[in-house]
Amino acid sequence: MKANIVINKITQLIPVDEIKGPRRGIEMKNIRKIEDGIIAIYNNKIIYVGSGELPDHIQTDNDTIFIDGSGKTVLPGFVDAHTHLVHGGSRENELKMKLEGMSYMEILKSGGGILSSVKATKKATEEELAEKAMKVLDRMLKMGTTTVEAKSGYGLDVESEIKQLKVANKLNDVHPVDIVSTFLGAHAVPNEYKDDVDGFVEVVINDMIPKVSEQKLATFCDVFCEEGVFNIEQSKKILEAGKEHGLTPKIHADELYPMGGAQLSAQVGALTADHLAAAEEEGLLAMQREGVIANLLPGTSFNLNVGKYACGRQMIDMGLPVALSTDYNPGSCPTENIQLIMYLASLKYKMTAEEVISAVTINGASALGLQEKIGSLETDKNADIVILDVPNIDYILYHFGINHVDTVIKNGKIVVSDRKLIKE
Ligand code: NIG
Ligand code: FE
Repeated sequence: MKANIVINKITQLIPVDEIKGPRRGIEMKNIRKIEDGIIAIYNNKIIYVGSGELPDHIQTDNDTIFIDGSGKTVLPGFVDAHTHLVHGGSRENELKMKLEGMSYMEILKSGGGILSSVKATKKATEEELAEKAMKVLDRMLKMGTTTVEAKSGYGLDVESEIKQLKVANKLNDVHPVDIVSTFLGAHAVPNEYKDDVDGFVEVVINDMIPKVSEQKLATFCDVFCEEGVFNIEQSKKILEAGKEHGLTPKIHADELYPMGGAQLSAQVGALTADHLAAAEEEGLLAMQREGVIANLLPGTSFNLNVGKYACGRQMIDMGLPVALSTDYNPGSCPTENIQLIMYLASLKYKMTAEEVISAVTINGASALGLQEKIGSLETDKNADIVILDVPNIDYILYHFGINHVDTVIKNGKIVVSDRKLIKE
């Protein structure tokens, strides 16, 4: 077999292999490290992972691209399994309100927050939304993210929700980053339904979900289950309706108040429960029993700045599979920087570098149901690979706030080289 690309002499190669994802509990830190590593790629697949030289059955010729991995760390491409990628406008105007002491929820209740992004998203054309999201994807890719989840939820009516999802699906076709879509019609209560939340839930269930499912625009169905937004009963109804239409449940659970979102995730068989900063032990135990992945978003806790972080350390010690994502969105967490999220998780949750790497690779892939294809460096898996200009994984977390990625290979193609995007 002939290799198109070979990365050799890798100082630290971390394949995150040997265990099918998600990794839970102690498995998150028990990942092997290969010195003098080597990886070979043919077309879009990995054909060899090892150390030293290539075995005889893999040939190279003048067309093979060799990348020198000395002094570098090589990891699976990062998977950002919770983002609000497509939206119009921005909310820097809220910064002042925040500094003056207004809470995230107070801003939302006064018609700002998510609702102001809804206004801007409704106004924007598909082209405008795509152009804005494209820049976001470029930044993500340069940071080493090769697969993202993208939620709707800034439309809040059938037409605008579908518009957002269509944009995400189109971007998936044209941008190297792979995008998995989630329908989040129940992201906020639109003003016209302020006094009739159940009425809006009916619209989500009867109008939005069937159309989204019919047009195959999403894989997952999510809901913002939070005090003053959608309660447990409404969230359950929506997620069950999603399931009936083939959409796997995910939940924005116990982000600000302990609502019982974690228990609900276990009850409805959600793949992930996300946020969990206010989750209580009972809910986490239920998640652990049902194998729900805790998808934690420390950038949001950091940026909301109310001092409440998910108990990531305890979750891992309880045996939960933990993933980490940016929650990239125009309000609570406007950052594409997954490496900053990794740093915050280490600092605030007390996760080791090994646990952090597991969380953003195989567990991120598992949080999207893609653990068979991506999230680890193994023969026959997609060649989604990041090369970081650091000698070991601890260094990524130690030297914080900068981008360590030198090269990104996506589906076997070099898409970032020498820190620059390669545009086709
Ligand atoms: O995950 N909490 C709800 N949704 C997003 C924030 C969206 C926004 O503020 O625009 C989140 O934090
Ligand atoms: Fe979110």
